[in-house]
Amino acid sequence: MSSFIEQEEQYLLSKIKECGYELDDVTLNVSSRPEYGDYQFNGAMTMAKKYGKNPREIATEIVECIKKDNKYQDINIAGPGFINITFSDKSLIDHVNELNKNINLNYENDNPKTIFLDYGGANVAKALHVGHLRSANIGEALKRLSSSLNNKTIADAHLGDFGRPIGLVMLEIKKRHPNLPYFDKTFTGEYPKTSPVTNEDLMEIYPYASAKAKEDEQYMEEARLMTALFQDGDKGLMALWHHIMNVSKTDIKRIYDRLNTTFEVWEGESDGNKYIPEMIAYLEKQNIIKESEGAKVIEVAKEDDDHEVPPLLLIKSNGSASYETTDLACIWERMKKWHPDEIWYLTDVRQALHFEQVFRAAKISKIVDDETKLLFIPFGTMNGADGKPFKTRDGGVMTLESLLDIAKEECEHKILPNIQGEEREKIADIVSVAAVKYADLIPYRLTDYNFDHVKFSDLQGKTGPYLLYSTIRMKSLLNKATEAKIKFSKYITINNKIDRDIIICLLNLRNVLLKSFNSKSLNDITEYLYKITNLYNNLYANNRILTEENKDIQESWLLLTKVIYENNLKLLNILGIDIPEKM
Ligand code: ARG
Repeated sequence: MSSFIEQEEQYLLSKIKECGYELDDVTLNVSSRPEYGDYQFNGAMTMAKKYGKNPREIATEIVECIKKDNKYQDINIAGPGFINITFSDKSLIDHVNELNKNINLNYENDNPKTIFLDYGGANVAKALHVGHLRSANIGEALKRLSSSLNNKTIADAHLGDFGRPIGLVMLEIKKRHPNLPYFDKTFTGEYPKTSPVTNEDLMEIYPYASAKAKEDEQYMEEARLMTALFQDGDKGLMALWHHIMNVSKTDIKRIYDRLNTTFEVWEGESDGNKYIPEMIAYLEKQNIIKESEGAKVIEVAKEDDDHEVPPLLLIKSNGSASYETTDLACIWERMKKWHPDEIWYLTDVRQALHFEQVFRAAKISKIVDDETKLLFIPFGTMNGADGKPFKTRDGGVMTLESLLDIAKEECEHKILPNIQGEEREKIADIVSVAAVKYADLIPYRLTDYNFDHVKFSDLQGKTGPYLLYSTIRMKSLLNKATEAKIKFSKYITINNKIDRDIIICLLNLRNVLLKSFNSKSLNDITEYLYKITNLYNNLYANNRILTEENKDIQESWLLLTKVIYENNLKLLNILGIDIPEKM
């Protein structure tokens, strides 16, 4: 089974072949000029290049051939060779009703994969900051999209739990509480069960220690030693590490929860690091480790590289592992534990070279086989309203929590005045997360954008709150119809131009989902949601659905409302956006 558009694409492909041309695949797009047709096919231009012919000539041949089938209401050629197709109302109605019977048709997948996703990356003992927002939003939505397309997905929070920040925090705790048993090498008793620090402590300690290390070389050196000691598994420091981990993880989870960001696996760099010795032993056998100025490296450059790709630093000259080694060890672990077909990484573009080195080393060493796909999915930055890196008023790094609070305050004003107390709080939470997430997913993934809480929270325009508000109104109409005991039709019909536009849009959903899945960018889905919601609001504004006298028309509209409502819920859910009962 394939969707309406896919069937039409197949048909078109067969006609192209009939005319004696070859094309790998055919893509039909919703027409940008609806006055010429419902859908458009641009392939004549591609074929023209391939066959050294005039595109209009090719388009004419194909169109003449198709016209013989009497299939479409209209088919014509525009400009240099765009083929415009207008479907017959009957075929639109047939297909939308078939789709309505089995909405899963949109999500079918005959080649499901196991996809492992890495989009957390929060650092233990440090607050989540605005830089973690996009990986969480885009990653979560890509996971949900992939699994709704029937792939198996596993996401790992991949906490930064083993690096210098922890060493810094431990050093500062030691300075403040030198008598804690964790720092006493001769201590043999049981370490305390409760943590010596709270999350609030950590939020103050890390920035303090990090600033101090920048200006105090001696302090930095001590932090280095502390880091090396705990990475070497010092008993007391490991006990302290567990406390810091627990305290910090609870808080990290709280923020990810607030953002509807979920992970099936809560591992971190430290988990991957456990596999370093066995991985190094394997790499030694592969004979690909080279010595370089006291360090161990793997050469990953290729002859035809157009930019410099330095060797991957496996073991530094002081004996410690690098960020690259940790990621390589995590791939080693993931392949053994989860057997993924694909591993996806989401960070901002600045880590491109890092992943290029890691992926190449993983392939050269055959830690992953040729079939396994390692994918770096970078994204652009979110800046402040002025287009400059997002900062707090005093120039510090904005935490993710403060950012969400700013949006929440703005959205709170938009909620109905009769909703009060705890319920108001809860709804403001949901609406503001919708505002932030939707705005974050609108730009094409690699495009930078500016954070504008006022614009993002508006009830009008391309915003999360607008979509929530409109979708709630659909639900309320359906409730009213049920209360008034109005029957819902089982059959959608076309009664006016808006009905027809809505149906064309509904039939295009699968294309949108696949496009988004292939580009790993959610902008097609945010755009689609806005479009279909607008079309529906148009229908709603121009008709009195609840008092319509023609019962056939009324029932068809109610069914359309239900289909669009359910569709919207599903798409909002893919974007990681919840919807309140009212707002
Ligand atoms: N913790 C890292 C950071 O804050 C991001 C980790 C991304 N994932 C990875 N597997 N390296 O920059």
